[in-house]
Amino acid sequence: MANFQSSILVFVAHIILLLGLPTALVGAVPVTPNTRELAISGRSSSTYWVGDIKRQGTAPFGHGSDYKVYRNVMDFGAKGDGSTDDTAAINKAISSGNRCGKDCDSSTTTPALVYFPPYYYTQIVGDAVDLPVIKASADFAGMAVIDADPYNDDGSNWYTNQNNFFRAVRNLVIDLTAMPKGSGAGIHWQVGQATSLQNIRFEMIKGGGAANKQQGIFMDNGSGGFMSDLTFNGGNYGMFLGNQQFTTRNLKFNGCQTAIFMNWNWAWTFKSLEINNCEVGLNMSTSPSNQTVGSVMMLDSKLTNTPIGIVTAWSKASIPIGGGTLILDNVDFSGSTTAVEDIDGSSLLAGGSTVANWVQGNTYAPSSAANKRAYTPDQEDDSDTVTIVETVVQTVQACPASDSGSVASTLATNAPAHSVGSSTEARITPALPTDSDTAYRSIVSNTDVTGLPGFDNSWLSIFEGSSDSVEVPVPSSMVDTSGSTAEAASVPAATSSAVPAATSSAVPAEVSSPAPSEAPLTQTPSQSESTLAPATVSSTSSAPASQSSDTTSGSSSSSEGTCSANQAISKGRTQSTMKSQSMPSSLLKDGAVFEKSKPLYADLPASSFISVKSAGAKGDGTTDDTEALQKVLDSATADQVVYFDHGAYVITDTLKVPKNIKITGEVWPMIMAHGDKFQNAKEPVAAMQIGQKGDVGSVEMSDLVITTKGSCRGAILMEWNVAAETQGSAGMWDVHIRIGGSAGTELQSDTCKKTPDVKTRPKAECIAAFMLLHVTEKASAYLENTWMWTADHELDLSDHSQVDIYTGRGILIESQGPVWLWGTASEHHQLYNYQVSSAKDVFMGLIQSETPYYQSNPSALTPFTPQSAWNDPDFKTCTTASCRKSWGLRVLNSSDLFVYGAGLYSFFENYAQTCLNTEDCQENMVEVDCSDVHIYGLSTKAAVNMVTSSSGKSMVLEKDNTSNFCSTIALFEQTI
Ligand SMILES: *[C@@H]1O[C@H](CO)[C@@H](O)[C@H](O)[C@H]1NC(C)=O
Ligand SMILES: *[C@@H]1O[C@H](CO)[C@@H](O)[C@H](O)[C@H]1NC(C)=O
Ligand SMILES: *[C@@H]1O[C@H](CO)[C@@H](O)[C@H](O)[C@H]1NC(C)=O
Repeated sequence: MANFQSSILVFVAHIILLLGLPTALVGAVPVTPNTRELAISGRSSSTYWVGDIKRQGTAPFGHGSDYKVYRNVMDFGAKGDGSTDDTAAINKAISSGNRCGKDCDSSTTTPALVYFPPYYYTQIVGDAVDLPVIKASADFAGMAVIDADPYNDDGSNWYTNQNNFFRAVRNLVIDLTAMPKGSGAGIHWQVGQATSLQNIRFEMIKGGGAANKQQGIFMDNGSGGFMSDLTFNGGNYGMFLGNQQFTTRNLKFNGCQTAIFMNWNWAWTFKSLEINNCEVGLNMSTSPSNQTVGSVMMLDSKLTNTPIGIVTAWSKASIPIGGGTLILDNVDFSGSTTAVEDIDGSSLLAGGSTVANWVQGNTYAPSSAANKRAYTPDQEDDSDTVTIVETVVQTVQACPASDSGSVASTLATNAPAHSVGSSTEARITPALPTDSDTAYRSIVSNTDVTGLPGFDNSWLSIFEGSSDSVEVPVPSSMVDTSGSTAEAASVPAATSSAVPAATSSAVPAEVSSPAPSEAPLTQTPSQSESTLAPATVSSTSSAPASQSSDTTSGSSSSSEGTCSANQAISKGRTQSTMKSQSMPSSLLKDGAVFEKSKPLYADLPASSFISVKSAGAKGDGTTDDTEALQKVLDSATADQVVYFDHGAYVITDTLKVPKNIKITGEVWPMIMAHGDKFQNAKEPVAAMQIGQKGDVGSVEMSDLVITTKGSCRGAILMEWNVAAETQGSAGMWDVHIRIGGSAGTELQSDTCKKTPDVKTRPKAECIAAFMLLHVTEKASAYLENTWMWTADHELDLSDHSQVDIYTGRGILIESQGPVWLWGTASEHHQLYNYQVSSAKDVFMGLIQSETPYYQSNPSALTPFTPQSAWNDPDFKTCTTASCRKSWGLRVLNSSDLFVYGAGLYSFFENYAQTCLNTEDCQENMVEVDCSDVHIYGLSTKAAVNMVTSSSGKSMVLEKDNTSNFCSTIALFEQTI
C-alpha cells in the first residue's frame, strides 16, 4: 500500500466486501428507489458449504457479543425471487452493526462475510456450486453494481484508494444486458493490497460500436492487487484498468469490443488470457504524446478471431522513455492479423503465429546473449536498424565464502538447466537465426508477412553510446550528516547480539553501541561467518540453507571462480523478438507457467469442515489457543478442511501444520504469535511451521491473517518446509501476514508512534518480528495473493498515525524450487523485502515492495543486526545513509529466477517526501549477485540505482529509464 502523497494515511475497514449498491452512491444523477432495481435470477437451493456451516465467528476486539460477522442476505429480508427490489435488504446485510463505511477512516474490528444464497444476485461470497446472478434492471442507476470505493458528491471517495485493503468478491454473475448499452459497469474496483476478485462472470451487450459504453470492471486507481478466473462476455471494454500494479490470471473475453483498455499503470502482469471474437485485445496506447502506461507483461495467452492484438504508443522516441514497456511471452496471435500495432495503425509485429518472447522497452542483458539473439531478416540488412547502445561492464564478484559450497553445488547441477537437458522443458522456442555477422544488431521483423497495411519492420534503437559508466552517484541530499557512525558500515562483530532480550527497556543495546567505522570492509567473509553465526540453532528454528545444507561442503574457505567476473552487459532500446529463455520444467505445465486457483471447495459438504472453535479454541485475542489448535490440526484428515471461525487465536509456541492438510478461514481470522518463545533474534522460532523439513505432501491454506500480539523479535511468522507431492500441491492463497497497526496487536500508535523529529532509538516493544516468511531449502511453494505487511500506519485507533514498527526481514526464499509467487507484496521490512538466496527455479509475477518510511532514521542496520548465517545484507559497501536502506529484492547465488513484473518503491526519507523531487529516497533497490536471473518489467521509485551488484556498483540507473512515475526497464538479465 502506499499513500505516497500525504503523511496522513487513511485506512479502511477490514471487511470482506463492500457492496456499493445505488443507495450507497451519491452520484450526480438523482435516483429514486424505484429506479434502482436489480433484477434477480431465481435459482434452486444448493449445498455450498458457506451457506450451511455453523457460524461461530466473532469480532474479538470490540462491538460486543451481538456483532454478527456472518450475514446471509436472506436473513435481512431479501427475497431473491427475481422481481423484488432487494437493494435495501442487501445494503442492510452489509451495513448493520455500525460498520466502517462513509466517513470512517478504517477499522479492522468489524469484519463481515456477506453471503448470497444461490437464488440471489448481488453478493460477496456467492454460491460456488450455483453462481448467483445479479441482474441490473433497465433503469439501474449507479456507477457499478458492486462498488468497492463509492464517490462522494465532491468527487472524493469513501476510502483512500491505495489504502483500500482487505476486500474480496467471488462466485457470482453480474448481468448488465437489461440495461441500455450506453451505460453500466459490473464492478467499480478501486482497491489496494489484500484484495481479490475470483470466479465472476460479466454479461454485457455485444457490439454496437461507439454507442456501447458497458464495461465489466471499471478500475480508476489503487495499489493492488490480484484477480483471477473471470469471464467477460460483450461490452465495450471487458476491463478498464488503472492502478499502480496488479497481477491478473485466467481471464476470458468473448465478444468484447476491446477486451482490455489499460488507462494507466506502473506495472501489470497478465497471465493466461483467452481473447475470443473481440476487435482489439489490449489497448495500452493512452495518451500517446506522453504515455500513462508504465509496463505490461503478458504470458501464456491466446487470441482467437481478434484482428488487432495489442495497440501501443511506444516508439524509439516516445516519452516517457521507460513508459509503454511491453513483454510478450508465449502469446498465441494466430487468431490475430496484427500482434502489436502502432497508434497509426501500422503493424509492429505481425500476427498469425505464437510469439515466444518479444520485448519493447529498455533492456540490460549480457552482451553474449544479446548477440545470440540478434538477427536480421534474410532479405533485409538496413544499417539504420543496427542498434545496441552502450556496454555496461558489470563486475560480478566472487561469491562469499560462506555460500561458496552451496553455490558451486547449485550451479553445477542447475545452471545448465538453461541449456539442453531433460530437466529443461523449453517453452515455445522459435528457431531464431543466430548469425555472428549480425552481432550488435537486434532487430526483427517478420517480413514474410505480407499484405498488412502499414507494415513496417520492428527495430531496436540506441542510447547514446557511452560506455563503462558504472559509478554510483551519491545524491548530495542523502549524505549522512548525522556525524554518527553508529549505524555506519557494518556489524560490530562480537557485540552484535542481534536484538535485546525481552525486556521493556526502551533502547535496544546495539542501537547505542557504536560500530567500528570502516574496518569491516577488510573483514573476510569467513571471519564474518565465524564471528556472527548463531552459536546454536534451536530445534524449531529455521536454520538457513548455508548452515544446514549438505551442499555446504566448501566450509568457509574462500572459493573463487564460481562466478565469472567482468561480465559485460549491453543496454538497448529494444522492440524485438528475443530468444525465449528456457524455464526449468518444474515451473511449467504444458509449456506454460504453472498456475492454480484458490480452492473454493465447491464439492465439499459443510460436514467436511472442522471448526477450531468447536474443537475448543477460543479465538478471543487473549486465551492461549496453541494446544487446542495443534490438536485439531493433528487430527484433521486429508479430506477435511480445518475451519478458523473468525476470531483472534493467540499462540505461544510453534503451531505445527502437518502435511496433507487443508485450512481456510472466515473473513481472515488472525493467528497471533505471542510470548517468551518468540523473543530471541539469535535463535528465531517459527510461529507457524508448514510441514517439517523434508516433508513431501499437500497443503492448502486460504483466507487467514498471521500476526503477532506484542513484540516477537525472535519470530519467523511462517516457516514453509513442505514440498509439493504433485505440482503445486503445497500452496496458499489470500493468506496475509500483517504486523502491527491494528486492534489486539499491542503494536499500535499509542505505543509505536513515529518519531521523525528526533534521532529514533527503536522502542523494544515495537520490535515486532524477525522475519515474515521463510521458504526453506527443501520446500516448494505456490503462493498467490499474499501480502506481507509491517504496518506503516494505524488502522484502528482514531489518530491513524504513522507508526515505527520493526520487522527484520520480509520474504526469504532458499528453496531449490519450484516456487511460484503470483501477486505477492512485501512491505516495510528492515533489511530486505524479498531475498532469494542459494535458491533455484523461482517464478515471481508480479512482486511489489516498499521501503520502511522511517528509514534512514534509523537505518537498515537497526534494530535488527545483520547475521551472516542468514545471508543478511550488511551494507558494508555503503558510504551514505541513503544506501543503508532496505532492499526491495536481493538475489544471491541463485539460478533460474524469473521475475515478470516488479514494482519496488521508496517514497520517504525519515517520513519526508522531498526526496521524491530528486528521485533519490534511497541509493539502491535490487541487488543481483552471482546469479542467473531474468527480470522483466522492473519498475522502481526514487532509488538512484535500479540494479546494483554485490560490490555496490550501479548496473542500471533510474534516470536513464524514467517512466510515468517510476522508472521502468523491460529486462535485466544476468547469466553465469
Ligand atoms: C484516479 O484515476 C483517474 C483516471 O486516471 C485520475 O484522473 C485521478 O486523478 C485519479 N485519482 C486519484 C485520487 O488518484
Ligand atoms: C486505443 O485507445 C485510444 C485511446 O487512448 C483510442 O484513441 C484508439 O482508437 C484505440 N485504438 C483502437 C485500435 O481501438
Ligand atoms: C508527461 O506527464 C508527466 C505526468 O505524468 C509530467 O510530469 C511530464 O511533465 C509530462 N512530460 C511532458 C514532456 O509533457
